[in-house]
Amino acid sequence: MVKVGILGVGTVGESVAKILLENADIIEARAGRKIVPVLGVVRDLSKKRNVDIPLTDDPMALIESAEVDIVVELMGGVEEPYRLVRKALKEKKPVVTANKALLAYHRYELQEIAGETPLFYEASVAGGIPIIGALRNGLSANHIESIKGIMNGTCNYMLTKMIREGVEYERVLREAQELGYAEADPTFDVGGYDAAHKLLILGSIAYGIDAKPEDIIIEGIENISPTDVEFAREFGYEIKLLGIAKKVEEGVEMRVHATMIPAESMIAKVDGVMNAVSVVGDRVGETMFYGPGAGGDATASAVIADIVEIVRGNSGPMLGYKKGLESGLHLVPPSKIRSQYYLKLKVIDRPGVLAAVTSTLGEHGISVESMLQKPSRLADRVRLLFTTHRCRESEMKGAIEALKRLDVVDDSVTMIRIEK
Ligand code: HSE
Repeated sequence: MVKVGILGVGTVGESVAKILLENADIIEARAGRKIVPVLGVVRDLSKKRNVDIPLTDDPMALIESAEVDIVVELMGGVEEPYRLVRKALKEKKPVVTANKALLAYHRYELQEIAGETPLFYEASVAGGIPIIGALRNGLSANHIESIKGIMNGTCNYMLTKMIREGVEYERVLREAQELGYAEADPTFDVGGYDAAHKLLILGSIAYGIDAKPEDIIIEGIENISPTDVEFAREFGYEIKLLGIAKKVEEGVEMRVHATMIPAESMIAKVDGVMNAVSVVGDRVGETMFYGPGAGGDATASAVIADIVEIVRGNSGPMLGYKKGLESGLHLVPPSKIRSQYYLKLKVIDRPGVLAAVTSTLGEHGISVESMLQKPSRLADRVRLLFTTHRCRESEMKGAIEALKRLDVVDDSVTMIRIEK
C-alpha cells in the first residue's frame, strides 16, 4: 500500500482524497498497488470538509510522518510551499505539486534538490489536460516550434460570457470565483500572472529556458472592452488571453497577453472555462490539447496521474532535459519581440489628421496593414482602427507614446497584439 499525505485540503485536495477513495479499484489496477490518502494538512481544523481523512494543522508533521510515502502539495503561495517541498525532497519523499507559482520561481532549484527523487507537476499547467506529460514524453522527438494556449480558465470563462452574453466584468468574475475556477487572489487570473506561471513551466520543458515572470511580457484582460471585441470581429479575429512561447531567429519569445487570433482557428472556438494548448513540433506538426483547465476534480485527475506514475516507478529529468544538455536557446528580450498589432485611437475629425497619424506610425517603422474609421459618441471625434504589419515591440511602444503626444489624438490608445 502507498500512503499519500496532502498539504492543503481545499477544493483540489478534497477532490484528490475523494477520487483516491472512490476510484480506488481502477487506480490500483493501473498503478499496481493500492494508493490511500492517510493524512491532510489544513489551516483551520474546525472548518467542515467534504472528505473523511485524518487532518492536522502541522505540515512538518505530515512530511516527517513515517505513515506518508508521497507528499502532495496543494497549498498555493510560493515561499512556504518551497520550504516544505524542499524538506520533503531532502527526506527523499516523492512530491506531487499543482503549484504553478512555486514552479515559476523555483523550478530549477527544486530540480537540483530533487535529484533522483520524483517531483511531478502535471496539474500545474492547464488543470486536467496532460500537457506536461505530452511535452516531456510524447513529443520528446521534436524540436518545439511553438506553444500557444488558453491557459487560464477564469479569463476564458469571463471573456466568453462578456462576448457571448454581454455579462459585465464584476459579475462574471464573481461567478468564476463561486465555481472554484479563480485563484484565491483573482488578480492573478485577470492580470495574466497565472497563465504566465504556466507558460514559464512549459517554456522550460520545451526549450530549457530558465526565465522568471519579471523577464516576460505579462498583460491581462482588464482593459479589454466590448468595442474591441466587436472591432476585432470586423477584422476577422476573436480576442483570447494567450500564453505564447515560440522559436524565432533570435531565440525564444515568451509572452502572455490578450491576443487577436483568426476567428476560424481552433483556439478561437474554445469557450468557457476550457483550456486549449497548440504545440507545433518540427516532426509531428501541430498537435492540439483541449480540456478543463480548472476545477477540483479535473485538477485532481492530473495530480493522481502523477501519483500513479511515481508508484509505477517512472521518473526522468523533472524539466525534461538532462542537466547540461538543454536546447541552448535564449529568451528574446520583450522589447525585441516582433508582432502584428491592432491599434484603436480616438482623434479629432478634421482634414490632415489621418495623415498625421499614419506618418507618425511610418516614422517609427510601422507599416499599416488595414484601417477602419468609425463614428464616436462625440460629434467632433472619430475612432481610427488599424492593424499593422509585423514590427518590433519597442517600435510600437515608441509610436504609441508619439501618437499620444499629437494634439489631435485623445489620450488613451488601445493596443492588442495579433497572432496568426
Ligand atoms: N485560476 C486558474 C484558472 C486555475 O482559472 O485557470 C487553474 O490554474
